[in-house]
Amino acid sequence: EWTTGNIVEEQVAAIRAQVGEARAICGLSGGVDSAVAAALVQKAIGDQLTCVFVDHGLMREGEAEQVERDFVAATGAKLYVADEKKRFLSALAGVTDPEAKRKIIGREFIRAFEEAERNILEEAEADGAKVEFLVQGTLYPDVVESGGGEGAANIKSHHNVGGLPEDLDFKLVEPLRALFKDEVRAVGAELGLPAEIVQRHPFPGPGLGIRIIGEVTESRLEILRAADALAREELTASGLDAEVWQMPVVLLADVRSVGVQGDGRTYGHPVVLRPVSSEDAMTADWSRLPYDLLATISNRITNEVEEINRVTLDVTSKPPGTIEWE
Ligand code: XMP
Repeated sequence: EWTTGNIVEEQVAAIRAQVGEARAICGLSGGVDSAVAAALVQKAIGDQLTCVFVDHGLMREGEAEQVERDFVAATGAKLYVADEKKRFLSALAGVTDPEAKRKIIGREFIRAFEEAERNILEEAEADGAKVEFLVQGTLYPDVVESGGGEGAANIKSHHNVGGLPEDLDFKLVEPLRALFKDEVRAVGAELGLPAEIVQRHPFPGPGLGIRIIGEVTESRLEILRAADALAREELTASGLDAEVWQMPVVLLADVRSVGVQGDGRTYGHPVVLRPVSSEDAMTADWSRLPYDLLATISNRITNEVEEINRVTLDVTSKPPGTIEWE
């Protein structure tokens, strides 16, 4: 019988057989796939696994804590945190072109991950152990997609946090290779991962870096993080999380518009709400969220985030619009 419990048992046995006494590392992105893959491997081989979290500072509110505190509490996994916020901010200084941002974030991510890796390798060597395996959260649809690649046009350079740097000679552990997303979520829940991780909407590897239209700065990140947290809180409170594929909040950081608050004139920034419905992110439609919910989100953002005085709604399908603005 094909149950979630069976999948866990089977994978744990398979991972033990594959890895033996060696050590493994696993990059955590904050997303479902890497978290569930890591939790499975941790269950199988315990402290032979070291998880790596590169904090690029482009995460949303609470997400770094979800990895550093909640994931660790739920799994007991050994976690190596690389606080690289400054590295990413300085690499992104002055950059406004979307592809340039993506390339910089991807490049810095690999460098940061490799540095973390070297430290972990050295530590293992000092213990007389060897890190032979890299854990990846590859799902069945990823396997199919890369196998049957018809060379689809590369519209944006995608970057997967936790992705495999090319010149490494690790053997791969891919415990989710046979699973679809909903099965991965069920396995995550079975393993006791928090709902915030298991039910999380997709979030791009380059993070908020591609949701600030204009240069990425610390203060702009703070503004966007605050607005995004309010929007997510209200979406969740409305019970509509599952109806929506994802809802990016985009800060038009170089645009200003006049507003009025109390008896004062403001000259603030707009944010765009981009709620979309989709099956696989290849195509999408804008979600018809209830007006009352949109009103609540708008009121809260403009009341609680001083720098934002206007909230707009993106009503473009994909195509022609992509889900993310950059
Ligand atoms: P677009 O904007 O191309 O996005 O319609 C499609 C889906 O992919 C996500 N996305 C990314 N995910 N690394 C990722 O892991 C990336 O660089 C990246 N860019 C976009 C986006 O959030 C949506 O779910």
